[in-house]
Amino acid sequence: MASLTLRGIVRDYGTLRVIHGIDLDVAEGEFVVFVGPSGCGKSTLLRMIAGLDRPSGGDILIDGVRVNERSAAERGLAMVFQSYALYPHMTVRQNLAFGLENQRMPRAEIDRRIAEAARMLQIEHLLARKPGQLSGGQRQRVAIGRTVTREPGIFLFDEPLSNLDAELRVQMRVELSELHQRLGATMIYVTHDQTEAMTMADRIVVLRAGRLEQAGAPLDLYNNPANRFVAGFIGSPRMNFLNATVTEAGPGGVRVRVGDLPEIALAGIAGAASGETAVLGVRPEHLGFVDAGGLPGTVDLVEHMGGESYVYMTLGDGERITVRRPGQTALRSGEAVQAAVTAEGIAHLFRSGEGEPAYPRVGAA
Ligand SMILES: Nc1ncnc2c1ncn2[C@@H]1O[C@H](COP(=O)(O)OP(=O)(O)OP(=O)(O)O)[C@@H](O)[C@H]1O
Ligand SMILES: [Mg+2]
Repeated sequence: MASLTLRGIVRDYGTLRVIHGIDLDVAEGEFVVFVGPSGCGKSTLLRMIAGLDRPSGGDILIDGVRVNERSAAERGLAMVFQSYALYPHMTVRQNLAFGLENQRMPRAEIDRRIAEAARMLQIEHLLARKPGQLSGGQRQRVAIGRTVTREPGIFLFDEPLSNLDAELRVQMRVELSELHQRLGATMIYVTHDQTEAMTMADRIVVLRAGRLEQAGAPLDLYNNPANRFVAGFIGSPRMNFLNATVTEAGPGGVRVRVGDLPEIALAGIAGAASGETAVLGVRPEHLGFVDAGGLPGTVDLVEHMGGESYVYMTLGDGERITVRRPGQTALRSGEAVQAAVTAEGIAHLFRSGEGEPAYPRVGAA
């Protein structure tokens, strides 16, 4: 297993800068997920780590050694792409063996690695088949098997599950996490799916427009997002954002007003001044309904998930919010309700700009 360090990585295409100086340390055995919207530079970054593309500036270190000038083959990494790129005319076994044969690895060692990878990924019974005779999930397992047989220092995955249907994605997500646990391998995984990021990562790296917005354990990002962008990206359904004015700021917290709705007291928020415009952020699961004293509005739509319910509502001033309640609800479209932050719920306060730092929470973990 290997560690990885990125120092000031920049990538320019002509005069266009798409990666703006990324610094990151990935520890041996860590599962790091790069997440961010389309075009933010996830694949570009991964390809530079893999050695398929070169940074315009900065250093890439593997186990503390600079590898900028090393070819992909010399870096000891293995990459799985979104398109699995299996050789259609070869059997699964031949696909798994191909890269190793090219390295002139002894036959016995090749057979040992294939047997081990096939057992781990439960594709032993498929070894004689060709890719055309496999399901999407089976093909994906073969593609992953090909990286496993290489025994790389670092596994690199670029949206490997995006071609699979929802159920298979969940299954493969669990399998990949288990593979990581079994191998104790260093893995870097790219996705734009925040659920995959939350469930698989030891640490999530949130990227936006070629910049690192925040890196941390999934629940750190969920509980203490550094800014509104991260807050909106992590968590599903996404956090509610309401334009607010700070009406009172004291050592214990602030009071804010949303439109002409009743004022809301927020404990434990520092750094705001009375009169400032800000954005109140509350996750759908931190809202509930009250009989009086909440934000009044009307139910637009209820989604019944069975185990929980999503209530989409419009507040009196026209802003739309989502409330997520455990269990089932009898609420219906058109009903008048009042939403409020629950006793155990958390309200965040952000500066107006999407990338500006959140107001600090005093006493937050
Ligand atoms: N060869 C190129 N020439 C110019 N711009 C490029 C080139 N390749 C990528 N880009 C730009 O670099 C940016 C990052 O692209 P990249 O493929 O890394 O995004 P991504 O985060 O992987 O997105 P997605 O989720 O859609 O795969 C994009 O704005 C893209 O248009
Ligand atoms: Mg990409």
